[in-house]
Amino acid sequence: MAIELASLPLPPTADASKFQTFGREVKAWHPGKLTAEQLEEVKEALYKYDILLFRDVVVTPEEQYALTKAFDPKSESYGHGNNKTESTKKSILHPDLKTIPRVPQVQLIGNGTVYNHEGLAEAKLKHPSHTTFHKTRVSPEDEEKGVTRFYRWHIDAALYDLNPPKVTTLYGLKVPQGPPQVCRYDDGTGDELPVPLGTTAFVSGKTMFNLLPPEYKSLAVRSRVKYAPHPYVWMAPARASSTGLGIETEGLEVPLNDLPAWEESKVKVFPLLWKNPLTGELAFEVHPCGIQELYVDPLPDGAKREGALYPDGAHITDLGEVRKLMYKIQRPAIAPQLVYPHDWRENDFVLFHNRGLLHSVVGAFTPDEVRAFHQCNLAASDEPTGPSADDVRKWA
Ligand SMILES: [Fe+2]
Repeated sequence: MAIELASLPLPPTADASKFQTFGREVKAWHPGKLTAEQLEEVKEALYKYDILLFRDVVVTPEEQYALTKAFDPKSESYGHGNNKTESTKKSILHPDLKTIPRVPQVQLIGNGTVYNHEGLAEAKLKHPSHTTFHKTRVSPEDEEKGVTRFYRWHIDAALYDLNPPKVTTLYGLKVPQGPPQVCRYDDGTGDELPVPLGTTAFVSGKTMFNLLPPEYKSLAVRSRVKYAPHPYVWMAPARASSTGLGIETEGLEVPLNDLPAWEESKVKVFPLLWKNPLTGELAFEVHPCGIQELYVDPLPDGAKREGALYPDGAHITDLGEVRKLMYKIQRPAIAPQLVYPHDWRENDFVLFHNRGLLHSVVGAFTPDEVRAFHQCNLAASDEPTGPSADDVRKWA
């Protein structure tokens, strides 16, 4: 039987024309019990549509790990590794991660206290809140009324030493039901997006690239970004913008000398555009919070110089300038009509192409709203592939 796909349930806010190749529901198949042939079809669908949803399935941690690993058989450890740095209290990721003892690559995330769960006697979970990460916050009165924000737009990736996972799987075991919330951008645009409680928001990296005017496409295809060493420790004292799309430049980052030991050879430099392994299309994939410097190659011979940005190339080391540039490029793609906010139901299993989109936690739960999810992604066995020589010729 061939794979049976249905459209994802888009909210009325979404511009359907921008979601034609983004997101599908896989009918009838169980993500943990795929035959070899079915797995190949799922892989193809994933790279074609970037996010796949399986509904009403009960998936064990072993099955979840196996499916995640199938996309990169040589990968083994959790996407952020199991090293001491990421688990230190200094990292902003510390409170969000609890490991399933039997399958340590699978993390338990969520909200409230969960008992006797897959070998964990008691796990205290906390849904991340923008109030501890953004520079400004929604007033408690507005929060009371259901106003919230995107927490942090990101790619699942350690961004130091380890390579960004190819896919992430998210499995919703316990999903508290509650009134919808309004995600407010608070950036002067008046943008806001009605969202289901505790949604995960997704945007397409391909759309992010396609929306760009030609001079920014040219810049993107010629550039690489350098991430900070131990970025989640580095950024911990700093504060994010109100859209969750990067950090405000206030000089609050941990000085590089004060970070846990690091070496230049493990610092990550990635292209801004990552090439889809199936379709060859380019997606704009930058984790805005961890960026530090930008390398821009000069225009290739024969390219039009008129109106070009950095026609002779550049190495931009001014943090504020790098951030401003990336924000200008990425902000249009998180506009309300381009966001897919997934409305979680219990036993939803989502598989997403971590190298083809950006996503964000959204919303706020009260401590008694218990939510339990299993998340798995694996540090990849290779680096993302950047634009080809043909791509550079085409877009520069
Ligand atoms: Fe994530």
